[in-house]
Amino acid sequence: MDKKALLELSNGLKIELPILNGTVGPGVLNIKDLYRTTGLFTYDPGFVSTASCSSAITFIDGDEGVLKYRGHSIADLAENNNFTAVIYLLLHGELPNLEQHKKFLLKIEKLSKVPEQVVNVIKAFPKTAHPMSILITCFASLSALYHERHGNNVNSEDLDFGISAIAQVPAIVAMIYRHINDQEFINANNELSYSENFLRMMFGDAFDNAKSALFAKALDKIFTLHADHEQNASTAAVRLVGSAGSSLFASLSAGVATLWGPTHGGANEAVINMLKEIEQSGDIDKFIEKAKDDKDPFKLMGFGHRVYKNYDPRARILKNACNEVLGKLEQSSELLKIAKGLEKIALKDEYFVTRKLYPNVDFYSGIIMNAIDIPSNMFTPIFALARTTGWVTQWYEMANDKETKINRPRQLYVGK
Ligand code: SDX
Repeated sequence: MDKKALLELSNGLKIELPILNGTVGPGVLNIKDLYRTTGLFTYDPGFVSTASCSSAITFIDGDEGVLKYRGHSIADLAENNNFTAVIYLLLHGELPNLEQHKKFLLKIEKLSKVPEQVVNVIKAFPKTAHPMSILITCFASLSALYHERHGNNVNSEDLDFGISAIAQVPAIVAMIYRHINDQEFINANNELSYSENFLRMMFGDAFDNAKSALFAKALDKIFTLHADHEQNASTAAVRLVGSAGSSLFASLSAGVATLWGPTHGGANEAVINMLKEIEQSGDIDKFIEKAKDDKDPFKLMGFGHRVYKNYDPRARILKNACNEVLGKLEQSSELLKIAKGLEKIALKDEYFVTRKLYPNVDFYSGIIMNAIDIPSNMFTPIFALARTTGWVTQWYEMANDKETKINRPRQLYVGK
């Protein structure tokens, strides 16, 4: 029997609201007809209690700390699959067999050439530009190319557009890094894996074989962990822009712009800056107190999450990866020590416990990237590189969803 909710208004009007049930997860109150039948809006700033769409891509159970891509647990994918297999899984719904994986890699190689127009856009930026501002513009530049060829007709059947964005983004991010560091660009070497290729386009032959293999493996895991995350802010932005009929590339540009924010993907850069500040001051307790003081805008970066009210499963995997990478490098990391100390204090502190604030994906990711000599201003572009797969997958699902309408929320008017 379908579950329903009964809404009774003070004027005696009673309406039944169907409760929709997904494969798993909380029931969803279907309020699509609420305004038409009652003249009422719902009010939910930040969409804390609002489902904007139905999706079959990624499932998160925030209370249990569960994350699954197409039904596969994130720990299994991060430990037992490489990132290109995960890209295939997200796009096609199943992990590829050997034959499918080989064909997919050839397709990525075929679509990976970055158009000259985009290369020139990167070169046009001052070396002082934040790499995320350049990346936003690179996707916007790709939208110009797409528009020249296809106008505004959104071709949501042809996955090749999306795969071309996924195929080109490593080279684009590597070129951005080398541009702002005044270094010559390095061409792709398609003999290498997706992650090895990215590492080499970024750093050339700076590392010996052992380090290259260790770092490429760590990056591959970081890409898998950051690939998708249901309706987070940047994915919601990509879907919203696409819902108006804008091209995939224009939508990706909006996704990058959203991810840049320090409360979202920009947090990984903010975590390292915070850990360095704590290292300087030597006083962890001062920062814990600042984070707890509601008069102080300071937040413990890398802590807390809109959905996870438990340990972010990605943070747990990244924490282990930190130990593994630093162990193999026989390096100790003062920042890792501070991060672990911060976590230990916070997880026992009543302020964090009552608000269910735990480390999130951004808390440890920067420490690994720091160990790979990746500068902190490149952390969020690398997050965007990985999330391009999630944005593309979610955009196509939106574009092919019969329920998709232009996203146009209403408001509570409090003006004159
Ligand atoms: C990502 O959505 C996703 O899935 C995102 C992401 C993805 O993969 O796409 O997981 C990636 O963006 C991870 C989050 C990275 N951001 C940070 O680490 C920045 C620090 N975290 C906070 O800004 C915050 O926790 C958010 C933005 C992540 C979540 O904020 P919410 O859900 O709006 O929660 P809230 O602000 O309502 O917080 C509830 C309470 C408040 O205190 P009270 O008003 O109840 O007294 O918890 C407090 C907040 O002040 N709080 C924090 C805190 N986070 C929340 N206090 C101190 N330090 C923090 N980090």
